[in-house]
Amino acid sequence: MKKILFVCLGNICRSPMAEAIFNHKIEEKGLQDRFKADSVGTGNYHIGDHPDQRTVETVAKNKIKIHHLGQQFLRKHSNEFDYLVAMDSSNQRNMLIEMDGLDKRVYLMRDFDPIEKGDVPDPYYGGSSGFDDVFEILDRSIDAFIDFLKKEEGL
Ligand code: 4NP
Repeated sequence: MKKILFVCLGNICRSPMAEAIFNHKIEEKGLQDRFKADSVGTGNYHIGDHPDQRTVETVAKNKIKIHHLGQQFLRKHSNEFDYLVAMDSSNQRNMLIEMDGLDKRVYLMRDFDPIEKGDVPDPYYGGSSGFDDVFEILDRSIDAFIDFLKKEEGL
């Protein structure tokens, strides 16, 4: 079983959405004995919190279930997870600071986006359309990420 950790800032919008979409797709493909995702945030503001209501509504519209409580990224996670995936370059930078001296790659989610590279935009301060945009970005990026993982793992 390979473990994937999706990381954003607050762990109530982007990374729990990525976790839910990833685990949904993995189950659809019958790969649930091979891969499992969790998520954390680099900030400590939302430890123990449920995902943002707009995150919950966006995934529900797409018939995906979400069950997560906020957690903060810690140095130990870099050993506990096989693949670390940051939502934006600021998250990636903060993870590398926390992981100082550890030799582990931190991927950027949109390195796998077939349409446009860059950051997964933070939807927290915007309206609900921002959450739909994030869903679309994650949906296609995670499809490509799963293809990458299958290749990496020889599946
Ligand atoms: P996320 O969005 O990183 O996608 O979960 C945010 C959620 C909360 C905050 C910032 C970003 N915050 O500052 O509380």
